[in-house]
Amino acid sequence: MLVTGCCGFIGSNFIRYILNKHEDYRIVNLDKLTYAGNLENLKDIEDDLRYEFVRGDIADEAFVSELFKKHADDRFDAVVNFAAESHVDRSIMGGDEFIRTNIEGTHVLLKNAMHFEAPRFVQISTDEVYGTLKPDEPAFTEETPLAPNSIYSASKAAADMLARAYFKTHGYCTLVTRCSNNYGPYQFPEKLIPLFVSNLLHDKEVPVYGDGMQIRDWIYVDDHSEAIDLVLRKGAPGEVYNIGAENEIANIQLTKMLLKQLGKPESLIKYVKDRPGHDRRYAMNSGKIQRELGWKAQVDFESGLERTIKWYIENREWWERIKTGEYLKYYEKWYGNR
Ligand code: NAD
Ligand code: TYD
Repeated sequence: MLVTGCCGFIGSNFIRYILNKHEDYRIVNLDKLTYAGNLENLKDIEDDLRYEFVRGDIADEAFVSELFKKHADDRFDAVVNFAAESHVDRSIMGGDEFIRTNIEGTHVLLKNAMHFEAPRFVQISTDEVYGTLKPDEPAFTEETPLAPNSIYSASKAAADMLARAYFKTHGYCTLVTRCSNNYGPYQFPEKLIPLFVSNLLHDKEVPVYGDGMQIRDWIYVDDHSEAIDLVLRKGAPGEVYNIGAENEIANIQLTKMLLKQLGKPESLIKYVKDRPGHDRRYAMNSGKIQRELGWKAQVDFESGLERTIKWYIENREWWERIKTGEYLKYYEKWYGNR
């Protein structure tokens, strides 16, 4: 199959999961290697004969169609699209790349996947397309109207609608998965958990937005991979599947858990100016995938978090290389005057 964006966080974990689970699968990973793409994330499998890396842009029509053409005799059985600009804060600083990759890129992939008759297309989406919930509202279901509030989530919602339209208009088999906030190894240290853990390991303050009472619904990345694998093989054409681990927690509570596990003082918490348009609460109802495909999250939050923190402690070089490179400029620009 063709998978895109797998030099990033979830995609790299997904490839590792799939190659461990299915001996007979072969994977082509198409990734542009943006700031978030890192070949080191797949170093342990780069020599696996079932794996091939291709550097390229999903929004580059000529390149993408050439890749499908090259594989025309040995047709892709599926396309899974992880490639995206994925960070809300960066979409506040500028939305162009989000529109190009997340919307135009998805369209280029859909068009070529259909033209070259890849039998199934899975679009990896997010709970953020549903917008925000009040404290007492029920969790998002697949029927909840889309109401994205950030440029990131708006671009992801647009991509979901394109996947839907290819199914409705052309009968092309698209499936959409919408997952809640992931955590685990290899997450780029701009996102809450790896940012805070790596700051704390340097005894640096952690920037909590606003009052820290925003709620996210966390899932361990391998549970997400298992769900995608099921949707890929057994999901019904044209359907959307929510994925979540029913694990809502406020940012400040999570921050305190991280401090505790790392033995750091609460004086390292720094409340900073809130993110504009900040969604207050996400919560996922994943009853549909549980009922229809028999999936359920396996990893409980405490042990998943412990495992994740351990990984960041043992892989200091991985994130220290990132945090001392180009990323420093972003950090200063975004957090410098908050
Ligand atoms: P990430 O930012 O870690 O990785 C994105 C990857 O896509 C990188 O390897 C990057 O080089 C690649 N990429 C970016 N633009 C590209 C382009 N034009 N062409 C080819 N490759 C390109 O992201 P992630 O956190 O691993 O998220 C992966 C997917 O899962 C995204 O679609 C995201 O919207 C979705 N998602 C993420 C979460 C989460 O909590 N991280 C939750 C739900 C859904
Ligand atoms: P993030 O990891 O960026 O994921 P998302 O915005 O896609 O949910 O952020 C998770 C939560 O943590 C979100 O409510 C914003 C908050 N947050 C902070 O309080 N401080 C930070 O420095 C970051 C990056 C996030």
